[in-house]
Amino acid sequence: MTSKDGKLKVVGIGGTLREGSSSLGALRRALGAARDSGAEAELLDLKELDLPMYEPGRPLEGYGEGVGRLVEAMRGADALILSTAAYHGTLAGITKNALDFAQFLGGDERPYFDGKVVGLISTAGGEMAGSNANGAMVHVVHALRGTVAPLMVSVPRAWKFSDGDGNITDDGYGEKLEGLGRLVVDLASRLTPEEDRVLRASA
Ligand SMILES: Cc1cc2nc3c(=O)[nH]c(=O)nc-3n(C[C@H](O)[C@H](O)[C@H](O)COP(=O)(O)O)c2cc1C
Repeated sequence: MTSKDGKLKVVGIGGTLREGSSSLGALRRALGAARDSGAEAELLDLKELDLPMYEPGRPLEGYGEGVGRLVEAMRGADALILSTAAYHGTLAGITKNALDFAQFLGGDERPYFDGKVVGLISTAGGEMAGSNANGAMVHVVHALRGTVAPLMVSVPRAWKFSDGDGNITDDGYGEKLEGLGRLVVDLASRLTPEEDRVLRASA
């Protein structure tokens, strides 16, 4: 939900278990631009959250702190940015497992990602899998009733375009990621009327 000072809240979810994850670095870059555009940005590093596998029927309280944090952040977001590594031609399992926890939002007044803008990022070792991964995430976001931002960023040959900490070092891809961060804030501000933001912020 919109932060206390009425700013839009953008939640970024991503990264892998690999030290120096490029998908996490790409997400940092996009979220930084979202923050520069006036949004409050929260980064959820999937390595840090250390999520167990989603288990149908297990209550939320039965999971650890990481799952609770993830679900609350997804619920409170005005917009999201998802960033995955491409594994075996599609999105990595760690990303899909995190998204499966959106099931806990299914009974909300505003279910799943209903009406929320979602930006998509992938990084890959080769040329093709990143686009496939983003394409697969489009289906997931649509199933969750979200609105996919019409610019998706796929960073191919990420080993070449990132440093040891996962930061994207290529100017062209860096600018695309920043453009996505700005676009998500712009679209979310149009989908979340000012009156709603002020009302929610003062609630
Ligand atoms: C298990 C595994 C499967 C992968 N499969 C593909 C693939 O099908 N296509 C591809 O281009 N890169 C593939 N890669 C490379 C990763 O997409 C690439 O290293 C990516 O940047 C990793 O993201 P990270 O830096 O966030 O860990 C694979 C890597 C791993 C570990």
